[in-house]
Amino acid sequence: MCGIVGAIAQRNVAKILLEGLSRLEYRGYDSSGVAINNETGVRAHRAVGKVQALKDKFEAMPLDGKLGIAHTRWATHGKPTEANAHPHFSGDDLALVHNGIIENHEVLRRELIELGYEFRSQTDTEVIVHLIHNALKTEPDFLKAVKNALQRLHGAFAIAVTLNDENERLIAARKGSPLVVGVGIEENFVASDQLALLHVTDQFIFLEEGDVVELTRDAVTVFDENDQVQDRPISVFNHNVDATDKGEFRHYMLKEIYEQPKVIAACLEGRISDERILTSCFGANSAFLKEIENIHIVACGTSYHAGMVAKYWIEDLANIPCTVEVASEYRYRKVAVPKNTLFLTLSQSGETADTLAALRMAKQLNYLTTLAICNVPSSTLVRESGLTLLTNAGAEIGVASTKAFTTQLTALLITSIAIASEKGELSAAQQAELVTALRSLPAYVDAAIKQDEAIKLVSEQFANKHNALFLGRGPMFPIALEGALKLKEISYIHAEAYPAGELKHGPLALVDETMPIITVAPNNQMLDKLKSNLQEVRARGGELYVFGAKETGFEEAEGIYYNEIPWVEEVLEPIVHTIPLQLLSYHVAVVKGTDVDQPRNLAKSVTVE
Ligand code: AGP
Repeated sequence: MCGIVGAIAQRNVAKILLEGLSRLEYRGYDSSGVAINNETGVRAHRAVGKVQALKDKFEAMPLDGKLGIAHTRWATHGKPTEANAHPHFSGDDLALVHNGIIENHEVLRRELIELGYEFRSQTDTEVIVHLIHNALKTEPDFLKAVKNALQRLHGAFAIAVTLNDENERLIAARKGSPLVVGVGIEENFVASDQLALLHVTDQFIFLEEGDVVELTRDAVTVFDENDQVQDRPISVFNHNVDATDKGEFRHYMLKEIYEQPKVIAACLEGRISDERILTSCFGANSAFLKEIENIHIVACGTSYHAGMVAKYWIEDLANIPCTVEVASEYRYRKVAVPKNTLFLTLSQSGETADTLAALRMAKQLNYLTTLAICNVPSSTLVRESGLTLLTNAGAEIGVASTKAFTTQLTALLITSIAIASEKGELSAAQQAELVTALRSLPAYVDAAIKQDEAIKLVSEQFANKHNALFLGRGPMFPIALEGALKLKEISYIHAEAYPAGELKHGPLALVDETMPIITVAPNNQMLDKLKSNLQEVRARGGELYVFGAKETGFEEAEGIYYNEIPWVEEVLEPIVHTIPLQLLSYHVAVVKGTDVDQPRNLAKSVTVE
């Protein structure tokens, strides 16, 4: 989704801004731009496509200066064209970049046109820059004029704005979209994501809802939503892993798939002892675990699939009802909240607009408490939730979520066991057995990754496919959904997932020799039923791709491609069985030559509704 970078320094900021934009490329975008404020005015370059196209423009015609703003745009209002790319201008000397959506932009646009403003783009953003320009007519102080203009906006925004007469300060603000200040020595920065600034600083101030910030070279002044100056704390980024380095891997996605044993171990660290879950991982007061009588899980996309798996664990282990819902639906309906219900959100980024809106709505309802399972400690979701369990996966750059998903599952299994134990549904021995299984998880995942070469060979069969069906039963159904999502996201092959038992209720009509059917076979009481469903497919000429442990008894045969997954305890199957599906979609995308890490039309973090 859109990205912002801004800088005010004693040195030329053009390279800093361009490098910042490159670091934001993973979020997904379709055009980019930079405006530099110097003695000659505010000048900009914009380009459609990759940031490299913008860099080429800088190469051909350099713009130098000590103050600037930059942006990667993911089109919402208006096509991805140069005219719609940010920065947007009012006149020649006021430029602005914006993330988010201005919901009342049509009314404001009409009003501004009546005032004589001419619009050069189709974006909602352009109203903001003209509003500030108009505010400057009655309020000559730049900072105050920006604050006045922001009062008129409905919707979500993070902005950075620069005015030529004001080349000693840069103004930025956030409401509904993330923004972070990077603190340097005699230079300061602003960005929508701290990763964009790791080449210039490791000190960050996370702005809060409604904050407006004035950056000079020597100072950062934050005003809260009541216009009071606030001393926001500075956090230091931990450089242990620089996620922006692909290392030996061809794509971030592959690197992140291979990181899973390590990050799952990091997710377990400090959360389990030899025989039990350490409930202190939920914070000092974990008494709420005993009180839970219901759970509502709300999330989007891959995170939603993780929630669907958790329902099986929660109901099976803890014996309490659990509902799972996509955030974009939950937030717009009347929800009945049974007594002592835990509201649980799942999010890699912690900035997904729908999930945040659902949390804010839930906080007005009668929930026991809110718990976020999230990967980004500094995210809005973490800051606004009552309790947090971090997944510790490290920054995930590939748009297609991989390690974030398996660490979410790990955190959810920890949570399910903790609740079950606290509610007396698990004996100490049962808990110890589950914890022992959890300890083996990184090694199991490592063994599953070792099938990479074999899966790569299978993937070649998909080069000419246009459709695929994924089947699963029980907790393997959400894993099938996740497998289908991965395949469509990065290889653009149309893929659907069904509980295998539903096949004959409709989708079987689609099956013929052109339709590959992918399934992960559990080694449990559902296996025989699954095998019968697969017979139905073979009888119609469908090609089967089966991933399962040796113990499932599957073998290669005509029309059946079999890949072995290591045997694991049943409770861990959804996590380990995810790995071959991730590898399959990765290799299919490579065979098809798509943009694996930044698939078309998608954004890493969906910060608009
Ligand atoms: C996953 O591959 C997707 N790119 C997407 O579905 C993602 O999981 C969804 O947008 C939710 O994001 P979040 O986990 O950051 O909230």
